[in-house]
Amino acid sequence: MSGVDGRVVVVIGGGSGIGLAVARRAAAEGAKVHLGGRTPEKLAAAAAEIGATWQVVDTTDQESLAAFFGALDRVDCLFTPGASYTVGPLRELSDEDAASPFTTKFWGQYHAVKHAVPRLAPDASIVLMSGAASVRPPGAAPAYVACNAAVEGLGRGLAVELAPVRVNVVAPGTIDGNLWAGRPAGVREASFAQYRADTLLHRVGTESEVADAVLYLFGSTYTTGSTLYPDGGYALR
Ligand SMILES: NC(=O)c1ccc[n+]([C@@H]2O[C@H](COP(=O)([O-])OP(=O)(O)OC[C@H]3O[C@@H](n4cnc5c(N)ncnc54)[C@H](OP(=O)(O)O)[C@@H]3O)[C@@H](O)[C@H]2O)c1
Repeated sequence: MSGVDGRVVVVIGGGSGIGLAVARRAAAEGAKVHLGGRTPEKLAAAAAEIGATWQVVDTTDQESLAAFFGALDRVDCLFTPGASYTVGPLRELSDEDAASPFTTKFWGQYHAVKHAVPRLAPDASIVLMSGAASVRPPGAAPAYVACNAAVEGLGRGLAVELAPVRVNVVAPGTIDGNLWAGRPAGVREASFAQYRADTLLHRVGTESEVADAVLYLFGSTYTTGSTLYPDGGYALR
């Protein structure tokens, strides 16, 4: 068990994908789950399914983050996968698109933690979202690769500053779930085939397998400043 029974678990980006998988698991283990994201309909449907509360929040807007955390009394566990960005080669992306992973995934998580701090329980556990591209670039996507590496550095820095609050990072490989379901079938199948060839376990992962890693980090009381790679061994090939 991850120790979330009776704890307040906040998931920003909890209306779909990996965030929803974590929220589902935490709710099933007895946590009081609070979901955040930008789309009310999505949050309402997810919250109704798992018995959670929800509030709209956009991590690129600090007023929105202040209102989101201001409405909470206490946060025991925080997971922040909510981000949307454009990935591509240095030679092709506009500067704005190249900056988008940093704008939403790096600064979004940085500011989410900043606004959560006054509400954090002394023994709170934070898990940031990275991606295994941080250690093994999958193709021409240098700004996205750098953003993930920066998130892992952020996790170490926050672990030092916020102790005894624990801060860890999860860095999944390619996960068959909501994000990839929204991409063109040809692109998805080609990427999945390449990933199967590139990883030790010869398959893509599932959202539930990433939830395993996040719930482990929530409850692992002597783990802080770490990055966990549920990537099927992708980083080693
Ligand atoms: N799936 C993979 O293969 C994979 C692998 C490695 C890392 N990751 C990382 O996992 C994270 C989540 O991906 P996912 O696979 O779970 O896909 P997803 O279903 O698209 O999840 C993203 C969630 O975040 C919300 N969101 C987006 N921008 C937001 C913002 N500015 N503020 C608040 N919420 C926001 C989205 O809802 P709204 O649009 O309604 O806000 C959505 O519910 C991403 O950072 C991604 O880089 C994914």
